[in-house]
Amino acid sequence: MKPKKIGFIGIGNMAEAIIKGINKNCNNNYEIFGTSRSVKKIEDLVDQKMIKKIDNPELLIENSDFIFLGIKPKDSIDLLEQLSKFSIKDKTIISMVAGLPTEAIFKSLNYKSTKIIRIMPNLNAQIGQSLTAYFASWEMSELERKEIEFLLLAFGNFLEIPESSFADFTALAGSGPALILEFYKVFEKFALDKGFGKNDAKKMITNVFLPTLENYKLSNLPIDTLIDNICSPGGTTIEGINVFRERGISEVIFTAMEAIIRKSDNLI
Ligand SMILES: NC(=O)c1ccc[n+]([C@@H]2O[C@H](COP(=O)([O-])OP(=O)(O)OC[C@H]3O[C@@H](n4cnc5c(N)ncnc54)[C@H](OP(=O)(O)O)[C@@H]3O)[C@@H](O)[C@H]2O)c1
Repeated sequence: MKPKKIGFIGIGNMAEAIIKGINKNCNNNYEIFGTSRSVKKIEDLVDQKMIKKIDNPELLIENSDFIFLGIKPKDSIDLLEQLSKFSIKDKTIISMVAGLPTEAIFKSLNYKSTKIIRIMPNLNAQIGQSLTAYFASWEMSELERKEIEFLLLAFGNFLEIPESSFADFTALAGSGPALILEFYKVFEKFALDKGFGKNDAKKMITNVFLPTLENYKLSNLPIDTLIDNICSPGGTTIEGINVFRERGISEVIFTAMEAIIRKSDNLI
């Protein structure tokens, strides 16, 4: 079978991770083309023979079956209005742009395109482990669904969700890695303040957080029971848990999530 062609417009951190995943895991099923305003990442990918550069967007579109939009929200409407001038009708647009609804894409493309997939990956795509939500703007055939899911599997796992859940998913899964890293940063600072070296701090954090997550994944018990199992009555751990609860850690996290959701709805 002839390899299908993918065009990337805007190659930053996320597109780069996706391109590397497709190159690594899709067995030459795809030929990848790209254009980007900043040249460093695209030139590195060209040097690694992962992508061919086509700077003319009209030619890029002409050459592609799938078009990934990897630009930031603020750049998206201008770009789409530019693309609307080209022959885009038979192309499948895959947009990773946060906060950009499919209706806004249709409108900016002058309703010329009929197939839009909205995705929300996360930067764990860099290690092939993004959990990527997707929503298709049309009733996909089984073959089309398989093809989209095959592409998403190249850089992690996927979840099909309604478009109305995108902002909520963004808070938990798109932005989640940064929120969790901010949490790890506090543990790292604690270890460094207490005189552990950087390597030992990293060793402690990875060897505590990864097995805890694995334990949670494998267990059928509710999280509260898992916590209670560590907090022996009158012991040490419950002292710390009580501080978390009295100071309202869940309120802080919920407020952060709501702030992300509000911003997601007001990015464009
Ligand atoms: N990073 C994440 O964790 C994450 C998670 C989920 C979704 N997303 C979404 O993924 C998209 C990309 O994010 P990112 O973090 O990869 O951003 P990024 O690193 O800033 O990459 C965007 C790239 O697109 C280029 N660009 C802008 N306008 C262009 C145009 N008209 N034609 C060609 N290239 C253009 C930018 O060039 P300049 O550098 O010159 O501006 C930049 O190189 C965003 O819409 C974001 O919402 C990101």
